[in-house]
Amino acid sequence: MDIQELKNKAKEALKTASNLEELQSAYKAYLGKKGEVTLILRSLAELKPALRKTKGKEANELRDFFKDAFKQRSKELRRLQSQKQKNRERIDVTAPGKRLQEGHLHPLTQVQRKAQEIFQAMGFVVVQGPEIETEWYNFDALNIPADHPARDMWNTFWLKQPENSKFEIRNSKFLLRTHTSPVQARYMETHQPPLRIVVPGRVFRYEAIDAHHLFNFYQLEGLMVGKNISVGNFKAVIQEFYRQFFEKPVSIRLRPSYFPFTEPSFEIDMRFGKSDWLEMMGAGMVHPNVFKTAGYIPRQWTGFAFGMGLDRLCMMKYKIPDIRLLYSGDLKFLQQF
Ligand code: DAH
Repeated sequence: MDIQELKNKAKEALKTASNLEELQSAYKAYLGKKGEVTLILRSLAELKPALRKTKGKEANELRDFFKDAFKQRSKELRRLQSQKQKNRERIDVTAPGKRLQEGHLHPLTQVQRKAQEIFQAMGFVVVQGPEIETEWYNFDALNIPADHPARDMWNTFWLKQPENSKFEIRNSKFLLRTHTSPVQARYMETHQPPLRIVVPGRVFRYEAIDAHHLFNFYQLEGLMVGKNISVGNFKAVIQEFYRQFFEKPVSIRLRPSYFPFTEPSFEIDMRFGKSDWLEMMGAGMVHPNVFKTAGYIPRQWTGFAFGMGLDRLCMMKYKIPDIRLLYSGDLKFLQQF
């Protein structure tokens, strides 16, 4: 074959090799043991010296050319291949991520935090108190003396008293607090008005269980004391709280009620638009006896107090039909929040 023709053919073969394997077989076809160029080089020996000289030069040039071109092309292909590899391995930062299964806050905790935040924005400070309480703070300091029939409003878990307990306070028996109201008394004992607090916490009642009652649940207590604090202030604060909590307009109404630690006392109802009234919580103006016990001079201060059930709020917000679901630890239930 004509050397020039062979050169063109070889050039073409290198160019069309689209990967390193194809390139390798092209190499073999021309410069392998039985490759076309190799054969020509071998056949030189049989030529007459004059012809051998010119042909030999041409053939050697062809071989060098081919080797160079091969090197060139294989470099190129290697670069292309690694580019492809890189493209394949490139991280697309705009691709949607895989969703990780994360834990999250319990719906009751979410409701508690949301309620706290709303009150904090209105200047209330979040305060805590003990779940194991004394009879004194849970009852007496709240104007509920030992023989008072109002004690029957709270079915109480009394705790066994260790004999000669070092922890005995004011000769007072221990119990599991039946409401968060004792924290009012504790706080006022150590702080001077004006003040605004909310007290989230777990409370306990010795009661039969059904879809709406458990032996323990959560409350949020509120207390605001100052000069000339009125029922009007209370209404404004509570209406604003519900509006922000449920994220829609609400109306509230006050019904007369009775609690030993407030006078007057109310039951607060709420509704959206013209729906049925829903009973939401107890509240009232702090009773002078509660101020007196705290060491305040009753004539100088007025205040309102309230206690709402956080479970109730949570059940309303998420339309949960049974309070027991909140304490079941059932992931199928919890994962919905
Ligand atoms: N402690 C009451 C209860 O658990 C609720 C309550 C009513 C709290 C009136 C208050 C209040 O602070 O003023 O039944």
